[in-house]
Amino acid sequence: MNRLQGKVAVITGGSSGMGFATAEQFVSEGAHVYITGRREKELDAAVAKIGKNVAAVQGDVSNMEALDRLYAKIAEEKGRVDVVFANAGIGNQMAPPGSITEDQIDRTFNVNVRGLIFSVQKALPFMHEGASIILNASSVKGGVELGH
Ligand SMILES: NC(=O)c1ccc[n+]([C@@H]2O[C@H](COP(=O)([O-])OP(=O)(O)OC[C@H]3O[C@@H](n4cnc5c(N)ncnc54)[C@H](OP(=O)(O)O)[C@@H]3O)[C@@H](O)[C@H]2O)c1
Repeated sequence: MNRLQGKVAVITGGSSGMGFATAEQFVSEGAHVYITGRREKELDAAVAKIGKNVAAVQGDVSNMEALDRLYAKIAEEKGRVDVVFANAGIGNQMAPPGSITEDQIDRTFNVNVRGLIFSVQKALPFMHEGASIILNASSVKGGVELGH
């Protein structure tokens, strides 16, 4: 199927899990995909596995300069963004009530909330009517999940 023929897609957190699976699927349907993540080695492995029509841009979604670099590169190479899949997120900061720390809250909000919002907002200048924004939600997006 070529439902995404010629489309330019950004997948944050595209080196593993759902982001990687989506990147593989998008490429198989004709898209050119930019994947992001913090770890260069995992990004390189993902690019090698997908094999074509994929590029990796290393960066942390909670870092505004990294997001600016990502979209500047895409703007230069492709001039537009057709799909943003804001997928990068963490779920490893769980703690039971009584032992939640400020650091856990900050880490979770920085990636799952701040990172998600600005991954999308910074893409908007390059998106046109009919473009798609997909958010990967989690019960951990809004804060530290309370342990039981
Ligand atoms: N797995 C679940 O059961 C589940 C359930 C509900 C929702 N979710 C949400 O679905 C999304 C994907 O989950 P998954 O299990 O497929 O994830 P995963 O396998 O843990 O992969 C997460 C991806 O995000 C990247 N990432 C993490 N923090 C990042 C950051 N600050 N900046 C840029 N990239 C970052 C990781 O690469 P690096 O580590 O190299 O940065 C990796 O590529 C997440 O947002 C997660 O919260 C997952």
